[in-house]
Amino acid sequence: MSALVGAPIDRVDGRLKVTGAAKYSAEITLPGLAYGVMVLSTAASATAQVDADAARRAPGVIAVMTPQNAPRVDSGGKGAGDRTLMVLQDDLVRYDRQPVAVVVADTFERATDAAAMVRVRYTAAAAATRFDAAAEYKPASGGRAVDKHKGDAAAALAQAAVKVDRTYVVPVEHHNPMEPHATVAQWDGDHLTVYEATQGVMNTRRKLAQTFGLPESSVRVVSKFIGGGFGGKGSVWPHAVLAAMAAKLVNRPVKIVLSRPQMFGSVGFRPQTVQRVALGAGSDGRLTAIVHETSAQTSVFDEFMAGTGAISSVLYGTPNLTITHRLRRLNMSTPTSMRAPGEACGSFALESAMDELAYATGIDPIELRLRNDTSVDADGRPFSSRALREALRAGAERFGWSRRDPRPRSMRDGRLLVGMGVAGATYPTHRSAASALVRVNADGSALVQSSGVDIGTGAYTVFTQIAAEQLGLPVEQVRIELGDSAFPNAPNAGGSQLTASAGSAIKLAALDARAKLLALARGDAAALIGGAPAIAALMRTGGVETIEGRSDAKPGDDAQKYAMHSFGAQFAEVRVDPNLGTVRVVRFVNAFGAGRILNEKTARSQYIGGAVWGIGMALLEQTRYDERSGRIMNANLAEYLVPVNADVPAIEPIIIPEDDPHVNEIGVKGIGEIGIVGAAAAIANAVYHATGKRVRDLPITPEKLLA
Ligand code: MOS
Repeated sequence: MSALVGAPIDRVDGRLKVTGAAKYSAEITLPGLAYGVMVLSTAASATAQVDADAARRAPGVIAVMTPQNAPRVDSGGKGAGDRTLMVLQDDLVRYDRQPVAVVVADTFERATDAAAMVRVRYTAAAAATRFDAAAEYKPASGGRAVDKHKGDAAAALAQAAVKVDRTYVVPVEHHNPMEPHATVAQWDGDHLTVYEATQGVMNTRRKLAQTFGLPESSVRVVSKFIGGGFGGKGSVWPHAVLAAMAAKLVNRPVKIVLSRPQMFGSVGFRPQTVQRVALGAGSDGRLTAIVHETSAQTSVFDEFMAGTGAISSVLYGTPNLTITHRLRRLNMSTPTSMRAPGEACGSFALESAMDELAYATGIDPIELRLRNDTSVDADGRPFSSRALREALRAGAERFGWSRRDPRPRSMRDGRLLVGMGVAGATYPTHRSAASALVRVNADGSALVQSSGVDIGTGAYTVFTQIAAEQLGLPVEQVRIELGDSAFPNAPNAGGSQLTASAGSAIKLAALDARAKLLALARGDAAALIGGAPAIAALMRTGGVETIEGRSDAKPGDDAQKYAMHSFGAQFAEVRVDPNLGTVRVVRFVNAFGAGRILNEKTARSQYIGGAVWGIGMALLEQTRYDERSGRIMNANLAEYLVPVNADVPAIEPIIIPEDDPHVNEIGVKGIGEIGIVGAAAAIANAVYHATGKRVRDLPITPEKLLA
């Protein structure tokens, strides 16, 4: 086998992106295209009366869509991940920034101008705007957010020699991908075509078909290039449906592109979580109990709950375990998955608590984690592979952990306090059914098709590498087409599962094509050596124009037998100014065992990105609500802070080689999300080490350190 898979080759779509030839959804133009601009509510709970008379008379306006004239659709959530959408079907407002009208005009500027002329009168209704005041309930939806009870955690905790029992808070965060959400919708009779910034065209097709009462075959969804999704583009949100409704209303194609402030509206966010983590341990640091209770928010009309506590059934072993998940309904929009939903927040709580346990027992934080390593998950299933120890050791070595004096406030750099922190990481290996087509052309080149979307991670590149390797072709001879629901089925690029799913399908389809070529060569594998010219000659001799390899790949039995997860470790070094309370991350090392790495360059990018997200989560990101009105106060990138280059030090990812025969045909575990898991905890633990101050509610801002 050639060394193509794993090679750190440049992105095959890199040139298209840097030259601007890659067209994103907002850049799609169609003949007769009209421009929609949403008018968003300025109340969190009300009945809205929309007065659009002035807007309708404004220059260039084609229509103003309100609950009075909007087409009727079925906007309820049906399938997994489907959201219930409030799309002008009634005059109720249930959250700040809910769309209450859409102005459609002949240019974007005229639509924007007219949108400002829409007057909305609100009759206020009771609003649940305070997390603390909202009643808790147990969500019906399960998924990974299930409760788990093993042994008797309460009793074990009561008897434990050493105890840590704390509450950790992660605030609301918004995804803020560089590319805003955008939809271009076009009707041709009863056939709907949508160009959509989405992580999954099949999911979007299913939801749109259901919403408009169409067979799925009457809907086509195209999503060729995505400028970041992070879970925010994993569901269909109101603007996509509204664009299609507006296109129906005005009988022209309609484009809706969200502004940055609108990205804080109806397109999902990471919910606030309040987590109690209680650890019981012997004086040797071995865990005897873990209690992990999560309370999170959802909307008043829909339910979303991430598997926040799931990490506590995987990362360490304990004989006694209690995990619970509860929700509170608020008049805010419906939250959704955001990079490592569950583990991102769960790891902040668990890995902060482990650091607190390390101090309570006087055991080094790495040694404490090694002592609590486990070969089975909480259900007793063995891990298909598990590189936690290797990641902790390799990371500690590279990071220089041995230089750390464990006493808080003991290390200094001039007048700055120095802190070093560590955290463990894990994320599940998901996989869904996927199909693929690999067509070999008469000239010996190949075409790969999958409906999977490259959300910026490098799917175009690694899928090309997989097909090229199986066919013995250079990557230049393999053309790849993704992101079109007309192509073979693939799941969302979410849950770190697209490569495992569609990548496996592409490998099997390429093997199918190769088998057909071999049959043509009567089993003489030597006839395939020599790349495209050899394959072309073989096909010419055999009298065939094209060869099609197809596959339907799905999870095998091993998914039941084994617990499948990636593991890793995060190391942060900080400098804290004791006078100002400012924190700078000056070094960051992370190490992951995530199965086979298909492209070391794109993989490193994911790990670096995860660390950058960890810096944002630990120190900067927080969506602020006015608790009196339920309105967002910082819906822009000036006041919602994300890490910029000056906030990001050198990040050194370490790839732990891992050969896992159980996970899937290509041995990959998924790398898009584990990079953020534990990253905020490592930074928070470093801040504690530097300052002696334990901040348990993110982000760690100067005022909290000076308090
Ligand atoms: Mo990911 S947050 O499941 O797109």
